[in-house]
Amino acid sequence: MPLRSRYKTSQWPRHGGQAAALLARFGLPPDHPIEDFSANLNPLGPPDWVPAWLERHVSELTRYPDVDYVAAREAIAAHHGVSRDQVLLTNGGGEAIFLAASLCAGGRAGVLTPTFNEYARALDGVGAEVCEISFTHPLDGLDAVFLCRPNNPDGGLLALVEVEALLARAAAADCRLIVDEAFIDLTVDEDANALPARLAAHPNLILLRSMTKFYTLPGLRLGYALASEALIAAMACRQPPWSVNQLAAGLVAPLLADSDFAARTQAWLTAERPRMQQALERRGLEVAPGATCFFLLRPGVALRRQGITAEVMLEWLLGGGILARHTHGYAGLDGEWLRLALRDERANHRLLKVLDACLR
Ligand SMILES: Cc1ncc(COP(=O)(O)O)c(C=O)c1O
Repeated sequence: MPLRSRYKTSQWPRHGGQAAALLARFGLPPDHPIEDFSANLNPLGPPDWVPAWLERHVSELTRYPDVDYVAAREAIAAHHGVSRDQVLLTNGGGEAIFLAASLCAGGRAGVLTPTFNEYARALDGVGAEVCEISFTHPLDGLDAVFLCRPNNPDGGLLALVEVEALLARAAAADCRLIVDEAFIDLTVDEDANALPARLAAHPNLILLRSMTKFYTLPGLRLGYALASEALIAAMACRQPPWSVNQLAAGLVAPLLADSDFAARTQAWLTAERPRMQQALERRGLEVAPGATCFFLLRPGVALRRQGITAEVMLEWLLGGGILARHTHGYAGLDGEWLRLALRDERANHRLLKVLDACLR
């Protein structure tokens, strides 16, 4: 089925964190208590000082933000070692995706699947033809390729050498490479922050970042794009004015300066991820190789032989108060896998207890 019709016809909620729709689907009351493992947010956030900061700055809502977001963009530029004109501040990583896609209006773009559905939706919205491609697919005739690194929904992190090979092929085909790094700060990898330094040599590269996941501020909406000055200018003129609110823009510099929060997040990930992966595998689940703050998994062969499918597990988990993310609408997964967030030790322990009860 072509990508377009698959995401448009899905009867399942399009994103994680949509408890009400799933509870209704499985006939559970709307007040059924749940722990949300369907949205991938940093369980350590937001940083402790954020509520007091917001209170102190709330009176700023009575004026318009700086339409050019100079201070926020300078903080991001300094953080990544690029120039301010290579930074576009956006209303979440989501807006950055839609602005990058708008550069392909009326053209053709490749999406490395299975992956986040919003690339296809954004491309479709600007009349671009969406092609599901694999890494070896020729890039000639494509205006851009979307790569999610680490990838949602499996958490796989394409090696830097492979990204570089893809970049070289994209340059030769006069095609842009758009890398969504929404989860890169929630990834255990020494090269996690290597791509911004490649922008100088690769004018066809666009990087998209989210600050909502790492800092646990999805309701505030904060993200940005990094690219050549020309591509940033092209995206900026498609962005509505004041797209990012005053409080979100003001938080950029203090958030980026909080190195203690970043270090604590890395420590949690490094300890908790392998511990949970082993615990899930010990319970007979097949876990896709990944490097970030969520797991793509399905019942292993032995469980599947007993008739335990991902959908059965989804329903059991929901009954036990655990909201998992279905994979309907993901090319090649089609509901046969589930995605579960990595949370703090207490919540992860609760998940394992519910899983034990389900699989007993
Ligand atoms: C891969 C990926 N990119 C971008 C986003 C958008 O993030 P934000 O909340 O910053 O808009 C998401 C949200 O789920 C995502 O999964």
